[in-house]
Amino acid sequence: MVDLEEIFGGYSGARLFRIRTETQDYCVKILPERLSEGSAARVKEICKIYQKAGINSLSLRGYGNLEAENRHFYIYDFVEGESFKEYSNRELSAEEIRKIGRETGQKLRNLKLDKNLAGPTQLATDNISRLTEYGIERYHELLNNATMMRLMREFFEIVQIEKLMQEFVETKDIFLGLEPKLIHGDLKRSNMVRGKDGKIYLIDIESMRKSYDVLNLRYQMTWIMFPEAKKERAFVGGVFDGLYKDGRPEKFNEQLRYVLMLNFLEHTTKALKRDEDVREYFIEMQKVFRIIQTSEREIL
Ligand SMILES: Nc1ncnc2c1ncn2[C@@H]1O[C@H](COP(=O)(O)OP(=O)(O)OP(=O)(O)O)[C@@H](O)[C@H]1O
Ligand SMILES: [Mg+2]
Repeated sequence: MVDLEEIFGGYSGARLFRIRTETQDYCVKILPERLSEGSAARVKEICKIYQKAGINSLSLRGYGNLEAENRHFYIYDFVEGESFKEYSNRELSAEEIRKIGRETGQKLRNLKLDKNLAGPTQLATDNISRLTEYGIERYHELLNNATMMRLMREFFEIVQIEKLMQEFVETKDIFLGLEPKLIHGDLKRSNMVRGKDGKIYLIDIESMRKSYDVLNLRYQMTWIMFPEAKKERAFVGGVFDGLYKDGRPEKFNEQLRYVLMLNFLEHTTKALKRDEDVREYFIEMQKVFRIIQTSEREIL
């Protein structure tokens, strides 16, 4: 008997199913494009890297294309448990969450320490110059969108956005002085499962690449800074405590503002469609821009 059940996917456009068999349960993740050259080899490599680094994560059991559909899929072991986000929102205080974040960060150090971990690698390296160009293009897209600009003016001083954009471009040089290292790529509590055994497993592993720590927050930095996202901030703050032995690299706030701007630009140009969603997001972002600009201390 094989039984299939859809589980709630995330925001990436992927669909996920749990397969129950007599012997074992699996998780199929169907992604919305064809399997590109080398991507299966890449995911295999990612699994191996986590294993070698001693980080609980996923085991790949299969992969393939849905030929007629322009989709591909990966089959992983199913991790029996609960999303760490749901679990920790219900059961843990911000301080307890920060502690687990710190332990996670300490383990992630292993990804950075071992030079041979990635071997001859299939993994992509983020090119910070290209990423910055991409951000500037998104900014111009915003400037050319009359509706968006009208809404922007309602909520922000445009000089404030210009200043942040200027800093965004300048921060490129900070990254150019750093060596890209292995990162998960989308580190957050909803990409972790608390197993029945009480251990934490890292999932949603396909975006691992060589990059910079703060780029883990590329898809969520603005939401982390929403005033009510205290537990989310506690978690990533803890991760950086673990990664940086309770300190922070020089100009870390600038790095965080860079990724915040990237997230803002990407979200406003790629995701937001309806005026009311834009308004809702901008109301929060008004507060966020105020907080990050007046903050003398470390933002995270
Ligand atoms: N191997 C697994 N075992 C158990 N549950 C899983 C597994 N893989 C995924 N899930 C569940 O499915 C959810 C979505 O999976 P995943 O994060 O990989 O998809 P996603 O669409 O890329 O998400 P997002 O883009 O929002 O981060 C997870 O939050 C988790 O609850
Ligand atoms: Mg996810």
